[in-house]
Amino acid sequence: MNFCLSILLTSVSRSRMRIASYCSSVKNSNLTKVNKENGGIHVTYITKECERITIKGKLGDNVMYLAHSNDIPIEGACEASLACCTCHVYVNDEFFDKLPTPDEREDDMLDMAPFLKTNSRLSCQIILTDELDGIEVTLPPATRNFYVDGKKPTPH
Ligand code: FES
Repeated sequence: MNFCLSILLTSVSRSRMRIASYCSSVKNSNLTKVNKENGGIHVTYITKECERITIKGKLGDNVMYLAHSNDIPIEGACEASLACCTCHVYVNDEFFDKLPTPDEREDDMLDMAPFLKTNSRLSCQIILTDELDGIEVTLPPATRNFYVDGKKPTPH
């Protein structure tokens, strides 16, 4: 059943349809962690449980690795080598256009991501700059690896 659902979602995702947000009410956890280097670029992650967690990163941080170092469950199976789509996130509209255009390899991987939306990006390709202060990224309801084997992500 999950395999069939995955195939269906893949074919739907290729058209990059907008899927209604699955987080109708986001829980504000009031949880703000401060990175050890005490940088000043705020990144808010909205988890699959619809919890909002704000982390302070620093210039040049990678959004996926920043999540890993703060126990936010973005998988990142290929460790940022653009060979998977398990680091898929949705970027809030205010910041989506501030990101560099995805290159062809990122686009190819995104085409394989379930629940693809027009504001989808791979978090391992988002590098913090000053103008990204306040960015919000939402984890999708599932990634391909979760559907196939039920594996829970662990930081690398
Ligand atoms: Fe595989 Fe980002 S971790 S593409």
